[in-house]
Amino acid sequence: MADAPPLPPFAAVIVAAGKGLRAGQPVPKQFAMWRGKPVIRHSAEALSAAGGSPIIVAIPEGGEEIAAAALAGVDAVQLVTGGETRQDSVRLAIETLAESAPDYVLIHDAARPDLRRDVIERLLSSLDQHPGAIPVLPVVDSLSVDENGIMAGSADRTVLRRVQTPQAFRYGDILSAHRAWSGESDAGDDAQVLVADGGSIAHVGGDEALKKLTFAEDFIGGQPMIRTGMGYD
Ligand code: CTP
Ligand code: MG
Repeated sequence: MADAPPLPPFAAVIVAAGKGLRAGQPVPKQFAMWRGKPVIRHSAEALSAAGGSPIIVAIPEGGEEIAAAALAGVDAVQLVTGGETRQDSVRLAIETLAESAPDYVLIHDAARPDLRRDVIERLLSSLDQHPGAIPVLPVVDSLSVDENGIMAGSADRTVLRRVQTPQAFRYGDILSAHRAWSGESDAGDDAQVLVADGGSIAHVGGDEALKKLTFAEDFIGGQPMIRTGMGYD
């Protein structure tokens, strides 16, 4: 196999400060076992193998021990305490990079373990053209607007995309966008924070396997997905 192409240097943030209530695991889902390893360890290893450094991990209050055990031996990991919401956790984590000010940062949900290098490559290679880049997938079902159980309308699925993480940014742009956010409500993700601050976001091909472990059934058997090797661009 040919050597993987070199990637530009980047820092990473993994948000792992949630409670994982919907997953109903004995520990917050990011620390539960999945395919033989703690969930968070899968993507931390993938980011580390791609050269991500440092890797700032936002953890719950009191979560130092379980996080350190889950991430033992992964290079360049630094733990910080996260916040009330995902957005708070991201902001606290990226603030810790203000002094070193990396060119690029990838912001990733700990709950998406199956992260492959090709997604990271597509994201980083978009950042010379755009301040942000996100992995997206098409919507394959038709869409219905619900009003009390009745179809009230439809939406054009061809212009919609499902958005995943990691999301990649020029560091200075995402830091100032998070600082400028009005704070009235929580943004759905970091791309929305950048767009609200006037930044443009490139869409790159996502990966169905990069799904977010959310519910208890996502953990049953750690179901191996069959990979076809086909892209989703
Ligand atoms: N997250 C975080 N800080 C928070 C809330 C969420 O770092 N205050 C992280 C989670 O750990 C997860 C990611 O954001 O990796 C996506 O959030 P989600 O899937 O909603 O996880 P939880 O909030 O933990 O789960 P639930 O909503 O079921 O309680
Ligand atoms: Mg949540």
